[in-house]
This record gives sequence, structure tokens and C-alpha cells, in this order.
Amino acid sequence: MEKSIKNWILETRNSAYCFGINDDGYLINTYWGKRKNKKTDYPLPIHTEGWASFDSPANLLPEEFPVYGGAFHFEPCLKISFADGVRDLNLKFDSESSSTEEIKIILRDIYYPLQIILYYRPHTDYDLIERWVEVINQGKESITIERIFSAQWHFPENQQYYLSHLSGKWNDEFHLTREALTTGVKVLESRRITSSHHHNPWFMIDIGNATETEGDIWFGAFAWSGNWKLAAEVTNFDRTRISMGINDWDFAWRLNGGENFVTPSAFAGYTENGFGQASRALHSFIREQVIPHRNNSHKILYNSWEATLFDVDEKSQARLAEIAASIGVELFVLDDGWFYNRNGDHAGLGDWWPDPRKFPRGLQPLIKKVNQLGMDFGLWIEPEMVNPDSDLYRGHPNWILHFLTRERTLARNQCILNMALPEVQDYLIEKIDRLLKENNIAFIKWDMNRNVSEPGWLNPPGDPKEIWVRYVQGLYRVWGELRHRHSDVIWQSCSGGGGRADLGILHLADQIWVSDNTQALARLQIQHGFSMAYPAITMESWVTDADRGKLPLSYRFHVSMCGSLGIGGNLLEWGEEERNEAAYWISRYKNLRGIIQLGDQYRLGLQAMQYMSRDHQHGVLFVFNVGQPGQATTVKIRLQGLHPEATYEIEGFSEIKSGLDFMSEDIDFSLSPFESTLREIHQKFII
Ligand code: GLA
Repeated sequence: MEKSIKNWILETRNSAYCFGINDDGYLINTYWGKRKNKKTDYPLPIHTEGWASFDSPANLLPEEFPVYGGAFHFEPCLKISFADGVRDLNLKFDSESSSTEEIKIILRDIYYPLQIILYYRPHTDYDLIERWVEVINQGKESITIERIFSAQWHFPENQQYYLSHLSGKWNDEFHLTREALTTGVKVLESRRITSSHHHNPWFMIDIGNATETEGDIWFGAFAWSGNWKLAAEVTNFDRTRISMGINDWDFAWRLNGGENFVTPSAFAGYTENGFGQASRALHSFIREQVIPHRNNSHKILYNSWEATLFDVDEKSQARLAEIAASIGVELFVLDDGWFYNRNGDHAGLGDWWPDPRKFPRGLQPLIKKVNQLGMDFGLWIEPEMVNPDSDLYRGHPNWILHFLTRERTLARNQCILNMALPEVQDYLIEKIDRLLKENNIAFIKWDMNRNVSEPGWLNPPGDPKEIWVRYVQGLYRVWGELRHRHSDVIWQSCSGGGGRADLGILHLADQIWVSDNTQALARLQIQHGFSMAYPAITMESWVTDADRGKLPLSYRFHVSMCGSLGIGGNLLEWGEEERNEAAYWISRYKNLRGIIQLGDQYRLGLQAMQYMSRDHQHGVLFVFNVGQPGQATTVKIRLQGLHPEATYEIEGFSEIKSGLDFMSEDIDFSLSPFESTLREIHQKFII
């Protein structure tokens, strides 16, 4: 990191992000793009007079952290109401305090005792910049924060930009959309108390000419598992910027004298090598710096949900476990239905101890059996939820989110616990900690099966609208404490599928259950979208019975092998032939998972996915005929990610060619509709 008094240059391996203070005192972005040869090549802060009497200089400048105040009319990052009713901020640069790891820019209001600290941390190897903000009320009187975003990111001016984003709904997540940005504001957000199935806190920006392998891409993600907002704005002066942060919709935070508020982190990066490289930068960062177990590949799991639904007991699970072990499964997961009085979705949530009718001897005998079969044991929980028909609710009806004068809207017959309450947090920590202490549990699937309604609570410590943030802080505390106490456990984040996939939850969970939709063709699209932001190691993917009898088992395996493989079908019904074939694919996956989960991923269109080891010596290619109308039986694929000067051999082809040749010519795969193939790629020698 390099700085002059008023100019900061953050260089990563291939990119640079620069900002500085101009002659009028504005802290403005000066550059974000490809790294230049010399520090003196980066532009210095610009000055402007504004545009007649209607647009102040602030309206024309790319301010690093624009605030609501003065004559500024575009999207601000911060809006505050002071105790005397003033809603106008006037921040000036005060000082900086930087270390080798981060830059800290300290701003102060010119009148009120208010300090704002902007944090910048470059993640050099990943071409990423992390930003977050702290607000400190140094006065005696309370103030109210009405909006606080973590960052505003500016793109080079006078360009037409295209925004890529992910959206969907339950059972249909991670649709990739790319659209032109025009003057005005495009908002993506969640108002559901989770990051949501509906939009994902992630973006990519290009100038219209980018492909998977080429073109400038600016990209980013927000590390928060609650309400969030992304505002992509094109101003009337052809400046494009994206702000990201906690959603200001129905939000307010009372900051008393002497208190501070710290935002979650926003991350953003730049590459000149297309969408694929932008995804790989995020993948590597998440795998190496975010998820708890970092570069450890995941075990192949079996989940009994689709086989037994709520009808679980020691005997039925032991029977499934035997078959699972016989085909090579390494982790047996008991899903919903195991806890007190849980015979359907009408009762039980909240009472996190084994149902004595189903497990009269507790979970230990089943776990022992699973362990004897050579597998780890995993368990499903849904801690944030409670059924009115539960001991927990009967004892504490006010522990849920609700307004006293309103009906409590049920969804799947359940209410949401108020995770902001310390007593709720302590209850959950105590119950789940006990489960983990008393049982040899290696894996937890943490579910969350509804969205918010009536977000009220009885005696909030500050503004009632703090609930959106305090809920997530409570969730992070509970999960974080349990993770701390049981650091070997692998956690999976599920919210009716992919309803809570974000960089915040990935600090706690190693995996995401990406969708309840396990149909292979739908999954190809969902997994493709998911891969834009998140690495294969975090993508739990099961082979189920959804397409049984419709699509070949090999096809269904190939789709699931593109992520962290699991099996979710009813193994009791699988015949010998199916079990043998499953055992074959499972054993192949075991040999390849190092490449799939820990290597680099290359999207070759919806029909093919390629993975290469980090040294580019070994790879795996999956090719699918997706059976579209008029689909030819030849699927053309162009490989990526090979060493151009090395030679490679592709399983099933006799010809050995250079990486360059393979990456410049199509390979034809003859596949009939709904046929797929897996091919290993091996480097022979460097020319
Ligand atoms: C959610 C999950 C499923 C399963 C059920 C259990 O829908 O996404 O995988 O765990 O809950 O109730």
C-alpha cells in the first residue's frame, strides 16, 4: 500500500484501487482497474465547479463515501438524524491511521461530535478490496442512523455498463440475469431477514463485450445474512456506481453517546479476464479465507430426508445407514423428524432433544452404529424456529417476533424466534451445545424454512427497527459460539434450499444446500448461477429420486459431482444395479474431488463444466446433452484453463495435443439427448 498525504493507492496482484482528497476536500475515487507499471501512472483527484446552480460539485464527483447532506442528490451511503432534528452531515477528512494490512480514513462532522472511519483492506492474491465502516458517537446525545452502507464502488466514467445479478425463488434459485444500466437507480435487495432466495448479495459489471474468458469485469459481494441492498446508479453525468450495505428499508439504529456501530464488509474486485476469472477470484478467496475449514474437501454424505421424511427411528435409519455405507458414503445425516414430538411439520420445532418414542435410547446407539459402519454422523436442526405446539413456545410465547396487537402469521406452521433476545440466544446455545457434547456429531445442517412477518418485539433496547440487524447479530453469536465450542463440526447453511447463501454465513458454514430442487436439468441451471459467486466446495448437491426412471443415473450423478456430492434418494428402493452403479460413481468422485472441490472451475456454457487442479496438471470435464428442442447429438466444447505449452490427453480421445490447441479448437462430443459424460484430463509433458 502506497500513499501520499492526500492520495492512496491500493494495489493487488493485477488491479489497483485509488482514491484521494481533491483541492476542495472531497474524498473521491480516482481509479479502479488494471494495475499500472508505475505509481505515478495513476490519476490524481479531480476538481469540478459543478453544473450551474442545479448540481453541486458533489453531484459530479465519484465520492468514496457520499453522505446525506449539503447539495447532494444521488444515493448516499450514510444518513443520520441528530438529537436536535438536523439531518445533514458535513464530514471532513481528519486523519488516517494505516497498517500494512489496512487503511483507516478518519472523517469528522464539522459541528457534531461524530467520527466516521472508512476501512480498506486489500486481499492482494485475489484482486479484492474489502471495505467496511464504523460510526462513533463521541457526544452525549443519541443520534439515529437511518442508512449506513458499507461501500460505494465507482466504475470508470462515460461508459455504458451491464449489471449481472442472481435472482429466483424457492425451488428455483440463482438465475443469472445481465442487463444494461441506464440513468437512474436499479435496486436489488432482501427484506426477508435472510439474504434470500430472491436476490443474492453479489454483482458483476462489464462494458458489454465481456465473455467467460475476456473483458473487464468489476465484481463484488456483501458479507451479510440479513436484509441487504444493492443500488446500482447511473447519474445524469454518466457516472456509474454501486452501493452495498444493510438495507435501509424499515431500518433505524439509535446510537447513544459513546457507542459505535460497525457495518459488515463489502468486497469488490477487478479482472481483465472475463466472468470466469472474476468467479475464480471469489472462489479462491471464499475457499482460502472465508469458510471455516478452508482447503479441506468434504465427505460424501447421505441424507435420509427424501427416504423417510418425518418417519424416522433407530431401525429405519440404521437400515439406510447400512446401504449407504455399502456404496461408499462417508457421512450419514439424519434430517428432520428426530426431535421431541416431531411427527410432521405441525409440532416440535424448539424442543431440541431426541423424541423418546422414536429414539428411546437417545441418538447414541444410532450414532454408534453409523460410526461402526465407518461413517461420520450428521444431524438436521432449525434453531431459529418454533412451532406453537412445542414446550418452548408454551413456556415462552413472547420469544418470537410479533406485534402484541397482531395475529402471528404462521408459515409451515412455525414462528420465528427473536434472535435478538439474549435469552433466546442462550437457550439455543445451551440446547445445541448439549446435543453436540453428548453425541458424536460431525456435521450439522442448519435450516431456516420461512421468511419474516410481523418483525416486532416487546422491549427493544433501542429503536424497534434495529431488529433487522440485531436478529442477524444474534444468529451470528449463537452459531459462532457453537462453532467455537465445536470447531471440528462441519456446518451447512440451508434455508429451504439456497435462501441463505452469502459471504457472511460462509464464515460459519462450510457448505450451502443450494436448492430443494434436485431435478438434474433444473440443477444444471441453478448450479451454473451459483458458480458465478460461490465455489464448488460450498455447493452441496444430492442425487435423489427426482428424476428416477426419467434420466440415467449416470446423468444425475454427473450433475451432482459438479459440487460436493451427496445422495438423497430412498436407498431402500434402489435395486442392486443402481446401488452398484452408485458405488462406481462414488468411488470415481473420491478420486476426483480434490480437483472439483479445491481446484479451479471453468464454465464452458450450460452444457459443460471443467475443473483443473491448481497446477493445471489434472482436470475433470463434465459434458451434458440438455435435450433442448432440435438439440443435435453433437455437443461442441472448447476447453479452458490448460497450460498452453503443455500437452494433454483427454479420456476417450487418442490424440494428444497442446493446451493451446485444445483451447483454440472445439471438441465434439457425440451425446444423445439426456446423455452425459465425464472425462479426465491429464497433462503429459511441457513442450
Ligand atoms: C427444508 C430443507 C429440506 C429438508 C426439510 C426438512 O425444506 O430444504 O432439505 O431438510 O426442510 O423439513
